[in-house]
Amino acid sequence: MDSIEKAALLAPMAGISNLPFRIIARSFGCALAFTEMVSANGLIRDSQRTLDYLRSSDEDKPLGVQIFGADPYIMAHAAKIAADYGADLIDINMGCPVRKVIKTGSGAALMRNPALAGRIISSVVQAVTVPVTVKIRAGWSRNSINAVEMAQIAENAGAQAVTVHARTADQGFSGNADWNVIADVKKSVSIKVIGNGDIFRPHDAIRMLMETSCDEVMLGRGALGNPWIFKWIIKLKTGNTDECLPPPEEILKMIKYQWQKEKELSGAKSAAKNFRKHMLWYTRGLENSACFRKRAGMCSDEKSLMNELNKYFEYLIESNPFEYGIK
Ligand SMILES: Cc1cc2nc3c(=O)[nH]c(=O)nc-3n(C[C@H](O)[C@H](O)[C@H](O)COP(=O)(O)O)c2cc1C
Repeated sequence: MDSIEKAALLAPMAGISNLPFRIIARSFGCALAFTEMVSANGLIRDSQRTLDYLRSSDEDKPLGVQIFGADPYIMAHAAKIAADYGADLIDINMGCPVRKVIKTGSGAALMRNPALAGRIISSVVQAVTVPVTVKIRAGWSRNSINAVEMAQIAENAGAQAVTVHARTADQGFSGNADWNVIADVKKSVSIKVIGNGDIFRPHDAIRMLMETSCDEVMLGRGALGNPWIFKWIIKLKTGNTDECLPPPEEILKMIKYQWQKEKELSGAKSAAKNFRKHMLWYTRGLENSACFRKRAGMCSDEKSLMNELNKYFEYLIESNPFEYGIK
């Protein structure tokens, strides 16, 4: 797991952490990227839709495949399938609070069932030769913070690292991540601890490393529309505080590159539908982006969306408000 020793990692994010997004993050120095969570049941049923989540390429290395499930045997079998498909690491999801997932006893529900969690981890570790990591929450609820116990279980079961999203499952994404939990976990295990939660700026990453002594940091939402953040974090680690967004020409180039890759992956129709959110993230905070967002929201096909995108970036590049219809 040399890769974990380098820079910041890209979090597994459903509907987001696909091949194009991972490749772009890597091009800015992201050291390790994860697939979105993949159903262990879907993998063992050989469901094509599920297998599609494993699509990867030579540039997409090292790759962590995250699986979720609640049955140790099925999880082991699924991990083996993912490893045979080329996963460099298997990550077990013990943090997803979505109803559909927890009602099957998977995801964050495992924070309430440490004994089963331990059996799942052991079973996966025994099934594959690649490293196994576990992604947990701080606990199920504020009254049951048990990240330390879960991390120790993971260590004893043979996991090589634990990622702590320092919020409780019942918090969802509300409130702040409590980084003290990451620090507590770091003090209690000797495997690697990856800190996660609320890194939106490079300084947050450095602060998390310093305040918690965690080994690495993982970014989710902070990388949306801002893959450059990985480069900024590496620079900041060496004392360079430069944190400037690239010029509009380069942002536009990046959007078009990602869009093209999305099209190659899932076809033009699906890309136009799924890619809009990335465009909105890329343009967040840019001059008069509200106007662009409104217009983009009304486009349903690639041609009209591309047209709006080009018009908006022409405006940014030339800074000609009248041309863009802003009076
Ligand atoms: C849209 C979205 C989808 C997510 N999907 C997953 C997932 O599939 N597996 C997982 O372990 N966490 C998932 N997460 C949680 C992130 O991996 C991460 O733990 C969380 O966003 C906190 O980190 P952040 O503050 O850097 O965003 C998701 C988060 C978001 C915003």
